[in-house]
Amino acid sequence: MSAKEIKKGVYWVGTVDWDLRQFHGPSYHTKRGTTYNSYLIVDEKITLVDIVDADFVDIMLNNIREIVDPSKIDYVVVNHVEPDHSGGFPRLMEEAPNAKVYCSKKGKDAMLQHYFGDYSYETVKTGDVLELGNRSLKFIEASMLHWPDSMFCYMEEESLLFPNDAFGQHLASSKIFDDENDMCTIMEEAKRYYANILAPFSGLVVRKIDEIVKMGLKIDMIAPSHGLIWRSNPEKIIEKYMEWGKGETTKKAVIAYDTMWNSTERMARAVVDGLSSEGVETKFYRVSKSDVNDITTDILDAKAVLVASSTINNTMIPDVAYLLEELIGLRFPKKIGASFGSYGWGKGAVASIEKRMKDAKIDIVKEGLEVKFVPTEEDLKACYEFGKEIGKMIE
Ligand code: FEO
Repeated sequence: MSAKEIKKGVYWVGTVDWDLRQFHGPSYHTKRGTTYNSYLIVDEKITLVDIVDADFVDIMLNNIREIVDPSKIDYVVVNHVEPDHSGGFPRLMEEAPNAKVYCSKKGKDAMLQHYFGDYSYETVKTGDVLELGNRSLKFIEASMLHWPDSMFCYMEEESLLFPNDAFGQHLASSKIFDDENDMCTIMEEAKRYYANILAPFSGLVVRKIDEIVKMGLKIDMIAPSHGLIWRSNPEKIIEKYMEWGKGETTKKAVIAYDTMWNSTERMARAVVDGLSSEGVETKFYRVSKSDVNDITTDILDAKAVLVASSTINNTMIPDVAYLLEELIGLRFPKKIGASFGSYGWGKGAVASIEKRMKDAKIDIVKEGLEVKFVPTEEDLKACYEFGKEIGKMIE
């Protein structure tokens, strides 16, 4: 895809990775691919904001060549060192050997630990301004959103924010702006991205947005490093980040279960009915047949998480353990939860699940429900009541 002007003299020169299906190793399933966005600013000083993955750097260089000779680049801003954004750095610097590299102090440390050449680094901190000629870039450190080195930069003259990973989506498209694409799909992917990458840093997200508001920055456009550029709806994604960051939830529950001979599944269906009787929207996932990122994305704005498994070898079915390990890492705030499941001659699943739910900071609001072998009608009624009682706790 060719370079595209996003503001006068500011060009998207990124690349589209249509085929990417896994990100961060196997942990994030990118069903719709992704983009690596970089931006070229043509002013008295030619500046590149963010780079791309190493496999795509020659495509980026060709996009830059449509505008300027890469050897004319004066400044390279590395907002974030993770290789999907900096992997192309050594190749870029072969073409732009005179460029000065701007990054945070932690960014410089990380760059030196990734790339060992003799490059000209300048470190910047919040409030520092890089004059480009008619325009300028103001830097805003954003440590742990989502790496220690992360930072944003802001072009005041165009009210344009470059927040790197923040506000991104793993979404490949031949159209680069939000208003050229289906908003439901964009918001679905933005939510999935937040739930699976930024959720552990939710407190920092809220504080960073508050800080930007206090700085009085007017934002007309947000140009993240993945996915679509927020041209028409920048306020919408900021509002959503505040909601997600604060852990706001809807009247919703997620049941994630797995089952050996369908007893736990029958219990789960009765629990759904109980929750539904209280008007709770309930998402129902058999873990081994579901995409774990779909489950975590639904948990982001659900109040209750119910995890269930048959007992096998005195513990839970391993797929359920994988989900719980994800929840421990993602640290969603303010969730309530409970566990249930069937067993044969020995228990174990519910106790193991409750332990891991507590590790994930989920507040266990009801004692686990266990059924021996096959649930009777009476057992299913108890499951219904179990769901109903939890439903009453969800506002
Ligand atoms: Fe898109 Fe943290 O890299």
